[in-house]
Amino acid sequence: LPALDKAFPALKSATEEDAAMKKLLVLYGSQTGNSAEIAKEFAGECPEHGIEATVMAMEETKFDKVMVPGVVTVVVVSSTGDGEPPDNCAKFYSQLGRRKNPPDLLKGVKYAVLGLGDQNYSAFMAVPRHFHIRMEECGATPFYRRGEADETEGLEEYVDQWKEGIWAPLKKALQEKDMNVPTKAAAAEAEDPEASDKKPKAKAPAASKALTEDKLMGVPALPVCRVALEWHQDGTAEAAQTAAPGASDYTVEAPFMATVVECKRLTATDSDRDVLHLALGIAGSGVKYSPGDSLGVMPSNDPDLVNKILTRLGLDGEKRFSVCAAEGQQTEMALLPHIRTPCSIRSAFAHSVDITTALRKTTLRVLAEHCSEQTERVQLLSLCSRGGRDDYSKEITIGQPGLLELLNQFPSCNPPLAPLLDALPKLNPRMYSLSCAQEENPEQAHVAFSVVNFTTPAGHTKAGVATNWIARSAGPRASTPVSTVPIFFKSGGQFAMPQDLSAPIIMVGPGTGVTPFRGFLQKRRAMLAASPPATAGAAWLFFGCRRAEEDYLYKEDLEEFAKDGTLTKLHVAFSREKAEKVYVQHLMEANGAALAGLVNSGAYFFVCGCAPNHPSEVPYRSPLP
Ligand code: 2AM
Repeated sequence: LPALDKAFPALKSATEEDAAMKKLLVLYGSQTGNSAEIAKEFAGECPEHGIEATVMAMEETKFDKVMVPGVVTVVVVSSTGDGEPPDNCAKFYSQLGRRKNPPDLLKGVKYAVLGLGDQNYSAFMAVPRHFHIRMEECGATPFYRRGEADETEGLEEYVDQWKEGIWAPLKKALQEKDMNVPTKAAAAEAEDPEASDKKPKAKAPAASKALTEDKLMGVPALPVCRVALEWHQDGTAEAAQTAAPGASDYTVEAPFMATVVECKRLTATDSDRDVLHLALGIAGSGVKYSPGDSLGVMPSNDPDLVNKILTRLGLDGEKRFSVCAAEGQQTEMALLPHIRTPCSIRSAFAHSVDITTALRKTTLRVLAEHCSEQTERVQLLSLCSRGGRDDYSKEITIGQPGLLELLNQFPSCNPPLAPLLDALPKLNPRMYSLSCAQEENPEQAHVAFSVVNFTTPAGHTKAGVATNWIARSAGPRASTPVSTVPIFFKSGGQFAMPQDLSAPIIMVGPGTGVTPFRGFLQKRRAMLAASPPATAGAAWLFFGCRRAEEDYLYKEDLEEFAKDGTLTKLHVAFSREKAEKVYVQHLMEANGAALAGLVNSGAYFFVCGCAPNHPSEVPYRSPLP
């Protein structure tokens, strides 16, 4: 087995000095993990091309440490929400954007930007474009065209094409600066491919050569584990998981602990749709939110699942540890900042890492490394190789095994804790549109959501992490009740209730898509009462559900808005009451002429709902708030 390491060389370790001076630096800013994965995969492919790469989240380094003359960098970054940078590159982004930056700040820096985005959002590619433009304005030189991968058209294909063209200009950029690329060893190998085989230690057996040359081409290099764990005696305090008292700018790292005021079911008890309304108490938080904003919930993983993983890995959940840099890793920033240590192993698996979503290739690569059975190792390596792409999409992307299912499928896989924690993505917060206005609920925040449970085509049962956590901890049948929920708020940007009450407003929100409009309408009612305009504009809401008795969400509230004049028209489409399906788009069509009139007179038009369920011929396509 060790001989295979030659075939899958390790990524060189990431000291900042190295990063800045010698090698290709791959920086990423990633909200949901796609950019992180693409950056890591790209860095993993570099050794095949004789390039040494270091990969870092932007929050793991400092702008002025790495943006120095001679550095060659590939920046992989996405836009979130309304053109905002991902949280883990926000600081970097604002430093780059500073007006007072001198025009030669980044002189001598060469770069290429690969952007990830979703065309459904109005500020498509705003952040990657900003990176590209600002870096050039600050004196850096692009060495390759900017990439723009659109999620709606499939990231992978585009990224593959973009990467195909990068190698020649990248090598040129690295060589021009007389960087050490190709490294001495790689250069010697390029001249004499057998050179390294001549060294006794690195000699690869025929089997591994066959694997690299044939089936397992394009396996990313094994990332070096960047972290080590320091163990603590029992009784060490857990790291604080909440905001300092008095803070009003809450974040994932420092959330506000909201109290559960109410959690009730909005759908009929005999419905297979389980939609919950959650009211949280935010007294004392100092938060000011607006309808259209969203509420972030920091969930916890299912304790049963955590237990099973701990048992499978033979870990003692109560043992406490801290994360520190592995030997040879120097970094000024905290590694794995999402794991707030000291904490217990159980707490890390419960609150910090994602153990349920389909595993990324770079994680599979680490798991492969820790299989004692050669067949299992090769199977996992094959899944992350270029040739194994179809298998990966069938077994992992579509099949969606979680960590436990995968560990059970590969019984010889026993990863040590440090590389496993380094490889697992962080547990992301979940965002929900607020369904109320502070004008009517000064000390509360409301949301409504479907509790997500489904079975994948491979037969794995999946439970949405956050919605099930809320159902389990606060729902009408809570099994492990909690009294507080860690939350933070995020601006809805342009998805906000118009200030001008005389302009018409059209809202389309089928299913749980209606939630922000309950907030809009509460605010509208308060505004109409406080300062009635000479003539209030029309306010139309299109709502859709299956049946009035089953899933007419917020029925009383919506009917009340229609009654008190906050809404001038409430259109409700019931899809399962008659033989013919009636959807919101049918009611819009039936009211087409009047709708056109409102639009032409300057109406604000909002749509909220589950985009993938709406067929493309529906006459609208709009961002989800
Ligand atoms: P259904 O009876 O076909 O599931 C909220 O979930 C409402 O959205 C339901 O009435 C559901 O109808 C409807 N819905 C499902 N797919 C839709 C689509 N493509 N366009 C509009 N409404 C849809």
